[in-house]
Amino acid sequence: MAVATTALTGLRADFPVLERRVNGKPLVYLDSAATSQKPTAVIEAMSDFYRHSNANVHRGVYALGREATEQFEGARERVAAFAGWEAATTIFTRNATEALNLVAYAWGRQNVGAGDEILITEMEHHSNIVPWQLLCQERGARLRYLPVSDEGTLSLDELDAVLAEGRVKLVSVVHVSNVLGTINPVAEIVARARAAGAVTVVDGSQAVPQLPFDVSDVGADFYAWTGHKALGPTGIGVLHGRRELLESMPPFLAGGDMISRVDFESSTWNELPWKFEAGTSAIAEGVGLGAAVDYLNEAGMEAIRAHERELTAYALERLPEIPGMHIFGPLDPGRRGGVVSFALEGIHPHDIAEICDREAVCVRAGHHCAQPLMRRLGIAATARASFQLYNTRADVDRLVDALHDARSVFGL
Ligand SMILES: Cc1ncc(COP(=O)(O)O)c(C=O)c1O
Repeated sequence: MAVATTALTGLRADFPVLERRVNGKPLVYLDSAATSQKPTAVIEAMSDFYRHSNANVHRGVYALGREATEQFEGARERVAAFAGWEAATTIFTRNATEALNLVAYAWGRQNVGAGDEILITEMEHHSNIVPWQLLCQERGARLRYLPVSDEGTLSLDELDAVLAEGRVKLVSVVHVSNVLGTINPVAEIVARARAAGAVTVVDGSQAVPQLPFDVSDVGADFYAWTGHKALGPTGIGVLHGRRELLESMPPFLAGGDMISRVDFESSTWNELPWKFEAGTSAIAEGVGLGAAVDYLNEAGMEAIRAHERELTAYALERLPEIPGMHIFGPLDPGRRGGVVSFALEGIHPHDIAEICDREAVCVRAGHHCAQPLMRRLGIAATARASFQLYNTRADVDRLVDALHDARSVFGL
């Protein structure tokens, strides 16, 4: 069977890199959680921009400059609409990491003080841990972690218990875990945190490319994601923020484009979203991200979710055929995204990834930038396969074959 969901049949051909052969074998790319492949539409949108419309934005009084600005700001409008948010409070950053740092610096330094608490979870990516660690160290605040159960889920009762102590100023939580695949009930978490008076941040880096979602439904004050995991280019991320908060916050980075007026002693700030976009923007990358969300819209986020859910279910069915297999995270495909982390008894995850590579199967091995979670799970690393709309059941079969090979290489 070529593809899991007929609605997406044929889209694989839109991704030129997937035509490559490695070690004489057709490439199987199972590392989209690290970065997704890019469709021709995105590659061409960026190339067309440089060939025909390149100029700096927001300044040129000439036609080319106006055209570049229209393309860049048009992309922002489509990206915002894709997320169910308004363009003026949709800020382009370099990536999700920068979006989270923006909140930690600009909101955090103004609002967090000694004795306050920031609550995150044990399943966060380093990008949603370290900015809060720095903030807490600087302001004398306390960083707390909501525990992860053995099944890889969070407990809302435990959330309520921490919130009830009354010291939590901000809650930041990942929407879909890049290790466990867990889909967290973010709307519920946000509602409870808000009722307790906390500001809320959601890291949607893994959710945006695979779930139908709407930032307004999630209800968070800030929602961060990253373009390169959502079929877009590297170098561009997104922060959707609540207007009142963005307006009251000081700038994050300072320089050109983010000012209204600069005097010798002081300056005033540009309107949203440019107040938070210092310096020349990643213009072609913005245009590329616009093309990526057009592509995702056309494929249909419902169809993408159905496809990834079916592939994940298939992987969860086939992987346990391999002796010594241990899978992390919830086993119900309805509760997880298209990310499957696993360990094989007797073989280090790096050896798994290396042997898979001989078979042209790309999987990730390591701590996946989630070292506290690895500690919680009592391991140093996992292997991880992750899916996108271009993957097929045949890709999962190739992975399973490669894992059998790995066992024989190790004499198991
Ligand atoms: C859950 C999660 N958050 C944040 C990030 C950081 O994304 P970026 O490196 O694009 O900033 C990643 C990337 O792996 C991720 O998986």
